Amino acid sequence: MAAFTFPGAAQFAVELIEVGDQRAALFEAERALVEHAVEKRQCEFASGRVAAHRVMSRLGLEIAPVLADGRAPRWPEGHLGSIAHTNQWAMATLAARATTAGVGLDIERHDRMRAEMLHLVLTPAELEADADPAHGLVKFSAKETVYKAVNPLVGTYIGFREVEIDLRGDSFRARYVGSKSGLTVMNDGVGVIAQHAGFVATLFWLPPGLR
Ligand SMILES: CC(C)(COP(=O)(O)OP(=O)(O)OC[C@H]1O[C@@H](n2cnc3c(N)ncnc32)[C@H](O)[C@@H]1OP(=O)(O)O)[C@@H](O)C(=O)NCCC(=O)NCCS
Repeated sequence: MAAFTFPGAAQFAVELIEVGDQRAALFEAERALVEHAVEKRQCEFASGRVAAHRVMSRLGLEIAPVLADGRAPRWPEGHLGSIAHTNQWAMATLAARATTAGVGLDIERHDRMRAEMLHLVLTPAELEADADPAHGLVKFSAKETVYKAVNPLVGTYIGFREVEIDLRGDSFRARYVGSKSGLTVMNDGVGVIAQHAGFVATLFWLPPGLR
């Protein structure tokens, strides 16, 4: 991936493509998942799927449809991955289950966070410690990434204010501060941050072997 480089995450193959009309490249079963959606959604979905197909190809896997369990993508046997898109970029990552129990990916425009939105995304303690919207945006992305990695494993909805993000340069850690059971698994995960051309992307993974 030329534009975004995730430090210390070489075990994850990541593909980035510009969002466009990639609908012709979809498998029929994938197309059926968005047949009733508006064109913009179909194009973003298709671009994410094409990025996922490219990762499969890069890893030497047979390119197969990426269907869905609810909204979460369903990956080839023995693998786990994640998809993210904005109206400009689509990204996908994939790794062997031997490498991770869960992986998430997210991408956001730098200017997406406004100061008055911070209280929806940050816990009171996070807000008290750092109310910089630029840091808030990175934490927003990190939390979505954590959700994509953890939700398929635990099957539980996780609110933004149930998680705190500790930013450490170009990496981050997550801490579950809510009251639901089974969610402290995220405390063992590792997150990394990549910035490029007005966008921030985050990648988060759990160590292998968790259930
Ligand atoms: C699921 C969610 C994180 C997706 O984020 P988004 O900004 O809407 O969209 P993105 O482009 O970043 O990602 C969309 C992709 O996420 C993936 N996704 C959706 N739900 C998912 C889930 N439960 N688990 C894993 N991946 C999921 C899908 O691949 C989707 O793309 P597709 O529908 O084209 O396949 C968001 O909609 C959401 O529900 N957030 C609330 C929960 C949360 O983030 N909590 C934070 C604290 S942990």
